[in-house]
Amino acid sequence: MQPLANSRSVALHQKAEQVLAMGVSSGMRRRATPIPLYFERGAGPYFYTADGRKLLDYTLGWGPLIVGNNHPRLNAAIAAQLARSYTFGAQQELELQVATAMTKAVPGLEQVIFSNTGSEAVQAAIRLARATTGRPLVIKFEGHYHGWMNNVLVSYHPTGGAANQAQPACGGQPEPEYSQTLVLPWNELAALETALEAYRGQVAGVITEPLLANSGCCEPAPGYLEGVLKLCREHGAVSIFDEVITGFRLALGGAREYYGLTPDLSVYGKALGGGFSFAAVGGRAEMFDCLRDGHTIHAGTYNGNSICLAAAQATLEILSEPGVYDAMNQHGQRLRDTLQSAASECDLELLTTGAGTVFSLHFSLSAPPRNYRETLSASAELRQQFQLAMLEAGVYLLPDGRWYVGATHDAAALDLASTAIRSSFSTIASF
Ligand SMILES: Cc1ncc(COP(=O)(O)O)c(C=O)c1O
Repeated sequence: MQPLANSRSVALHQKAEQVLAMGVSSGMRRRATPIPLYFERGAGPYFYTADGRKLLDYTLGWGPLIVGNNHPRLNAAIAAQLARSYTFGAQQELELQVATAMTKAVPGLEQVIFSNTGSEAVQAAIRLARATTGRPLVIKFEGHYHGWMNNVLVSYHPTGGAANQAQPACGGQPEPEYSQTLVLPWNELAALETALEAYRGQVAGVITEPLLANSGCCEPAPGYLEGVLKLCREHGAVSIFDEVITGFRLALGGAREYYGLTPDLSVYGKALGGGFSFAAVGGRAEMFDCLRDGHTIHAGTYNGNSICLAAAQATLEILSEPGVYDAMNQHGQRLRDTLQSAASECDLELLTTGAGTVFSLHFSLSAPPRNYRETLSASAELRQQFQLAMLEAGVYLLPDGRWYVGATHDAAALDLASTAIRSSFSTIASF
């Protein structure tokens, strides 16, 4: 690999820091190691750096690129739409088509509303929960990420304190803006039951990532999600799956299909737009009565804009073809098998957790973590060494050990990844 000191990425990053606060456009990207790389183009599962390096990408742009970059069918759909309109700020048949495709694909989804980002759509879901129930409180779980807004960016990745103490994640978050958010440890039904009892009649909704993708891809314990939905029903609270990551990823019908569960509301983003800024909330028709009767509102200049709708429509068409999820899931499983066997050949203790096309690596952990706190015992140092070695070997990964697999990850990608995995483990085992 070209020494980073002389790379265009370093030069561009230094220049960017003069004019772009942070030097990056999302705070999450500051964690990129060794530096935030600059890219010029992407094609299929490959990213091309500003230095002309071709990297096999398993970040998928933090999840959205489920059909890769530069997909001919997505390009054609968007090019055709460009000639028709960018946006109307008014109605078009495409809205109806995408809403129909979503409700057809996802079990229990009768109606949807459109938004632009996951963060916004989460806020819409919370507003719906409050407007429907007339209650103020929202329960979220430690380690879960629901966007960067003040009321949900609490106890995301705390380094201390109690697991049921709402902790702001950054400066500029005044306490009154998250004082209506209760935080609980995840995967513990008793904790939820106790909180719903203690705040009886006050909890509007419970929001959870169905698979804890943002903190080590922890899986829900058997019966846990069912228990959450049951407790919500018993206490009249709206159950919300934040499917911004799991939606159209764990299956075409997302976590609802994968786990066979139907929460009151689900929030979608990322994969739904195939790399374009598109998000949605969906659920039973009655969950949107409070919008229909004008009790509350949902708005946005760019909601249902033409280009993002066209991207979502094409993405859903591609994902709906037979065999797409089987192939992606198989690729994910093969990667995990290779990671496990190659690690054990090098005497490295490694666990992978997750489902299908999204999984995380945990070094030096003896049992799969059940929640955010348990992921903290894994070796962040080994994870980082591995990620750097993989970059050296031509594979681009997220800094937190999470892998995303997409529809364009083929046999050639698997070969390349497997070779890189083996050489990277040998490298870090020799330290
Ligand atoms: C589960 C989950 N919810 C919400 C969001 C926020 O989505 P966005 O970044 O599109 O605002 C994210 C982003 O990573 C997410 O992973």
